[in-house]
Amino acid sequence: MSESLVLVGPMGAGKSTIAKALAQKLQLQLLDIDQMVVDNAGADIPWIFDVEGEHGFRKRETFALQSALAQPKAVIASGGGLVTQLENRQLLAQVKLVVYLKASVQSQFQRTAKDKNRPLLQQSDPQAVLQKLFADREPWYQQVADISIDTDKNNPKEIVQKIVKQWKAAS
Ligand code: S3P
Repeated sequence: MSESLVLVGPMGAGKSTIAKALAQKLQLQLLDIDQMVVDNAGADIPWIFDVEGEHGFRKRETFALQSALAQPKAVIASGGGLVTQLENRQLLAQVKLVVYLKASVQSQFQRTAKDKNRPLLQQSDPQAVLQKLFADREPWYQQVADISIDTDKNNPKEIVQKIVKQWKAAS
């Protein structure tokens, strides 16, 4: 069992921003799986996808998740594709609180439009990619999460308040 709080959800749902605010509010260590992968590889995500493929990235991501969960209580932001791996879903089942930050495909698209750091979206029609990923992954987000929060209907302050409430109830 891990005493941590993990945020899951698609690219552009605001996982990193909300995790930062939560870690501050709850006075917990902040861990970001993407950042751990980058630090460990000594290379950015586009480079890892380019050289090692998505498969190589996923292996690094699982390793980072294992390391993050082995640490004392923390707020952990994950990458949008973390839930695609069975091993990761099994690890998340052992976590105290998993929160799904839900966002419409349209807002995912708006929030990721200018970003060059997400290899899966460097396509001619990124909105269609987001739509497909959402259809594929939504059941997994639902499956691993204890609660889900709609980021289109709540502002960041409200999202943090809701999560803090759940965290206190689970403590
Ligand atoms: C990915 C999401 C990204 C990052 C990588 C792959 C995905 O993280 O892990 O580009 O498969 O959805 P964010 O959700 O933080 O953008």
